[in-house]
Amino acid sequence: MHVTIDGVRREVEPGQTVAGVLLAAGQVSWRTTRGAGKPRGVFCGIGVCFDCLVTVNGVADVRACQRLLVDGDDITTETP
Ligand code: FES
Repeated sequence: MHVTIDGVRREVEPGQTVAGVLLAAGQVSWRTTRGAGKPRGVFCGIGVCFDCLVTVNGVADVRACQRLLVDGDDITTETP
């Protein structure tokens, strides 16, 4: 199946999470903290810390580590 991440179409396997695909592509951070601008990506990996937020199909603040990809998903990160 295929998804689009920051405008780039990628082939992914069923069962992969957004975070898994980003990490596999070598992207370890995709947003920054509000105050200090520190890079953030996956920290806990279990849905607790909310460090991994992305926008999925126009819905903001989705936890990348918990969201399984669906064919046709459009993912946007804060800092591609
Ligand atoms: S990495 Fe902690 S909620 Fe996703």
